[in-house]
Amino acid sequence: MKMDLRTQIEPQSEKDLRSDKDAPFQFGQRLLDDESSVWKHNAWDHVEWDEEQEKYAHDRITSQQENPADDFDKQLYTGHPARYWDKFYHNNEARFFKDRKWLRTEFPSVYDGATRPDSGVKVVMEVGCGAGNTMLPLLRNNDNPDLVVVGVDFSPRAVDIVNSAPEVDGVNARAEVWDLATADALPSGMQEHSVDYLFLVFVFSALNPSQWGKAVHNIARLMKPGGQILFRDYGRFDMAQLRFKKGRLLDNSFYARGDGTLVYFFTEQEIHAIFGKPPLKVQRLATDRRLLVNRKRQLKMYRVWLQAQFVCEDL
Ligand SMILES: C[S@@+](CC[C@H](N)C(=O)[O-])C[C@H]1O[C@@H](n2cnc3c(N)ncnc32)[C@H](O)[C@@H]1O
Repeated sequence: MKMDLRTQIEPQSEKDLRSDKDAPFQFGQRLLDDESSVWKHNAWDHVEWDEEQEKYAHDRITSQQENPADDFDKQLYTGHPARYWDKFYHNNEARFFKDRKWLRTEFPSVYDGATRPDSGVKVVMEVGCGAGNTMLPLLRNNDNPDLVVVGVDFSPRAVDIVNSAPEVDGVNARAEVWDLATADALPSGMQEHSVDYLFLVFVFSALNPSQWGKAVHNIARLMKPGGQILFRDYGRFDMAQLRFKKGRLLDNSFYARGDGTLVYFFTEQEIHAIFGKPPLKVQRLATDRRLLVNRKRQLKMYRVWLQAQFVCEDL
């Protein structure tokens, strides 16, 4: 488990970003030109890492690699992942995740293509829907009477939470229990190649890397030719990765959180390798690097997320 910060972080200078009219996504646009201004705002976008942060990341990863999880814990956490997520929703109900308000700015094609009064019959699916923080805002902003929105999650508790939301009528909107990584059958009521837009928002990181192949196969079976997959997830060396302490590392960049849920941190190259094979194709892929600042405690938190859009080409 070796790491190479230089090749994995793929820095892009602020100047490059400002001049790049073809940048794949909007992200934020508050740029930190002058380091002495850092405490003036709570967040900065497209931030390059300084030497101190690179050293911190290197030291944290080295320490994690020297103190991985033992075999018993590896077995325990990877054996029944749905149980830990179900417990998570039992404890947190719908209170933990915030509504994904950036969806409309970052993935306007879904709104333009599926939610207008004249969009016609369109099927949107959210895989790993949790408490519905992606699908419910979409339903709230929908003007299309023929839109069908289906959420799936392997936690029955999460599915119950979504199905009891006021926006979910059980006809045009519903949630079903389904395991993306192990299922041989499609979710209940779904036909092959019937989905126009499919959201993967912080769900692929919850899979064991050994499950990626099966998961992609299942997604490709659901997609219509020309259908789009909208993806956002954790990037390599995100603050959440660097914070893991001894005994949580299960495999390279793959961890068990304190509550037993699993999380992987991706590079752009990995996303290309996972989603770049026919019938899927990577249309847009970018790293969102943001510096969050706690001005009161003078703390800097370097966040790294990956965002992408894939298309299912003709079958
Ligand atoms: C970090 S949460 C994200 C929830 C939601 N997409 C959001 O953005 O708020 C990850 C979700 O993926 C679900 N999940 C993890 N592995 C799954 C699998 N193999 N099949 C279906 N759902 C899964 C979990 O139960 C959890 O609800």
